Amino acid sequence: MEVVEPKKSGYQVPWIEKYRPKKLEDVVGNEETLVRLRAIGKDGNLPNLILCGPPGTGKTTSVHALAMELLGDSYKEGVLELNASDARGIDVVRNRIKSFAMNKVTLPPGRHKIIILDEADSMTTAAQQALRRTMEIYSNTTRFCLACNISTKIIEAIQSRAAILRYSRLSHEQILANLLKVSEAEEVPYTEDGMEAILFTAEGDMRHALNNLQAANSLAKGSGEMVNQKLVFQVCDQPHPTIVRGIIDACGKGNLHEAIDKLNELWASGYAASDIIGTFFKVTKSHNSLPEGDKLEFLREIGFTHMKIANGINSKLQLLGLLARLSRMSEVTQ
Ligand SMILES: Nc1ncnc2c1ncn2[C@@H]1O[C@H](COP(=O)(O)OP(=O)(O)OP(=O)(O)O)[C@@H](O)[C@H]1O
Ligand SMILES: [Mg+2]
Repeated sequence: MEVVEPKKSGYQVPWIEKYRPKKLEDVVGNEETLVRLRAIGKDGNLPNLILCGPPGTGKTTSVHALAMELLGDSYKEGVLELNASDARGIDVVRNRIKSFAMNKVTLPPGRHKIIILDEADSMTTAAQQALRRTMEIYSNTTRFCLACNISTKIIEAIQSRAAILRYSRLSHEQILANLLKVSEAEEVPYTEDGMEAILFTAEGDMRHALNNLQAANSLAKGSGEMVNQKLVFQVCDQPHPTIVRGIIDACGKGNLHEAIDKLNELWASGYAASDIIGTFFKVTKSHNSLPEGDKLEFLREIGFTHMKIANGINSKLQLLGLLARLSRMSEVTQ
């Protein structure tokens, strides 16, 4: 992995940029997709591509690495990148994209110019429509690579003109391996429960994981501690899973009052109902000592409450109702 030297001023480069893989072979996870991209990188036969999947899984990274592998030194002239921060209305498609596609540049033999449209799901339908014919007219010289989170936001006409590659969330092992690599390079002192906490909060998002590691590390350096569970939850600012686990356990024993006291404690620290219910789900899912049957029933109830909260009824009453239902379920089964 190439490492950019940190600036002397003491200003820290974000680790997500410092350790952004420059080559396709360094991008971890999503093997099937990456095997295809690496093959394209080798033989240079680039179709129009749509990369889609959840945030922080390596889409932008892969598409830049691929363009770099295909074009090498001609990267600067041969690539036009437009992302959600650029204006990408119909005018831009008509003018900038068209004029780039018409431009003559010298590229390595057999290679095409590449137009990267990052975060393409935020392009308006009208702009996407304007792209349809452009993609075909300039297909001799130019290829399009689109990256997006939700493939259904790309109009079907464009989907049918491109090969779709999907990314999924990264596994804990894949994220952990990368975290350990970065920790070694940056000399991060960490404890095992600290790393587990980062994996728990990252939910398969490598960007999230690296950012949290860096934030926890700064805090740890400041206070002379290791990166441990406490610091990680402090920087992530999520309801502490130990408290949430306490609530679930109390409900599991049918002890509603204890559960309510704990919930009040969380509520008083200012967490929103949506944060709390999200942690409820994660904690229950990874709760090993809850009997399987109970766990499924609990998840079902949590799911319903999540839906109500997502629909806008984000009051404490909904959470209290959930606790009551969970406790009653446990009473019946006991
Ligand atoms: N598969 C991966 N392997 C190694 N590092 C990764 C991977 N995915 C993400 N990262 C790290 O996370 C950072 C962000 O990744 P990237 O910009 O590729 O995410 P993305 O999939 O484009 O997300 P978004 O949908 O939010 O745009 C990278 O700079 C890199 O450090
Ligand atoms: Mg991206």
